[in-house]
Amino acid sequence: MVKCIGVLTSGGDAPGMNAAVRAVARTCLNKGIEVYGVKLGYKGLHDGEFIKFDRHSTRNIINIGGTMLKSARFPEFKDPEVRKEAIEKMKEVGMEALVVIGGDGSFRGAQKLSAQGINTVALPGTIDLDIACTEYTIGFDTAVNTAMQAIDKIRDSSTSHERCSIIEVMGRNAGYIALWCGIASGAEDILIPERFDGNRPKLENELIESILEKKALGKKHHLIINAEGVGHSYGMAKRIEQATGVETRASILGHMQRGGNPTAKDRVYASYMGALAVDLLCSGATNRVVGYRNGQYIDYDIEDALGMAKDVDQYEFEIAQILGR
Ligand code: ADP
Ligand code: F6P
Repeated sequence: MVKCIGVLTSGGDAPGMNAAVRAVARTCLNKGIEVYGVKLGYKGLHDGEFIKFDRHSTRNIINIGGTMLKSARFPEFKDPEVRKEAIEKMKEVGMEALVVIGGDGSFRGAQKLSAQGINTVALPGTIDLDIACTEYTIGFDTAVNTAMQAIDKIRDSSTSHERCSIIEVMGRNAGYIALWCGIASGAEDILIPERFDGNRPKLENELIESILEKKALGKKHHLIINAEGVGHSYGMAKRIEQATGVETRASILGHMQRGGNPTAKDRVYASYMGALAVDLLCSGATNRVVGYRNGQYIDYDIEDALGMAKDVDQYEFEIAQILGR
């Protein structure tokens, strides 16, 4: 039976990470397992920045965005010697197993630690929803709601001035945030990297046509949700304004999408996943990642999970085009 577990958050922070940390801590304590919070991701693991958790340590965090453990990018962790030093630090406090909350890169770290004898379970923590083995990632729901609320506000102003607004949302190389925000805010056009062939002049011509067509139909504003993976929002706005004569403004929402109080969905799913991670470690599992698929929480071998491919739902993309007309 495992006696001591650590938990860390790694890569970009995501709302709901705190709920997962709290669930790991409290599930451990409930089972009589010692539990440590590791600060600053793998950097803190290497530097021995550990906080011994008791029941009070994770009070009043379930409702807070960000991560109480802080997060960091630490490329040095790819070096096996650096990982060995981290394992030494873990051994000093008796930490035998680790829950890693982060994205694909963080899973690689967990996989390598497992190969070096530390039992690991990873949880998908990223606003981007770009993890293939799961239909849910911690933080996506909150980020989409945050962006949607900002878009609603921009829409008010866009309507008042009869403008075109290009709103750029996060997502790295994935368009899930853009697609969801586009549908949720009734956008006229949605640009996502998964359906962009790299031909910018062609894309801009299509947008120009779409703006003129909708203007002729009597639309009083034109919302374009642009994923950061397509990008170039400011330049696009300038060229669209020149070609259409419709005043066009670009807004890049940026890191506001990573903050804020997590939604109920992010709190509940993250809590479930945190508890499940501890149960998996208690059953002797290692090198696993927890996902949510077809209405069920499920765990995969990390290598298998990283080998999976993912694409946006084509039907969802198609209806988004139709509904925005
Ligand atoms: P994310 O987890 O959100 O994908 P990153 O790709 O930045 O974010 O990875 C987070 C951290 O995971 C890195 O800073 C590094 O510490 C660790 N990591 C990433 N890739 C590897 C790897 N191949 N081997 C070991 N550790 C890795
Ligand atoms: O992965 C989450 C994310 O917010 C992406 O959507 C974005 O591309 C990236 O992180 C931004 O990273 P940073 O916080 O390092 O600027």
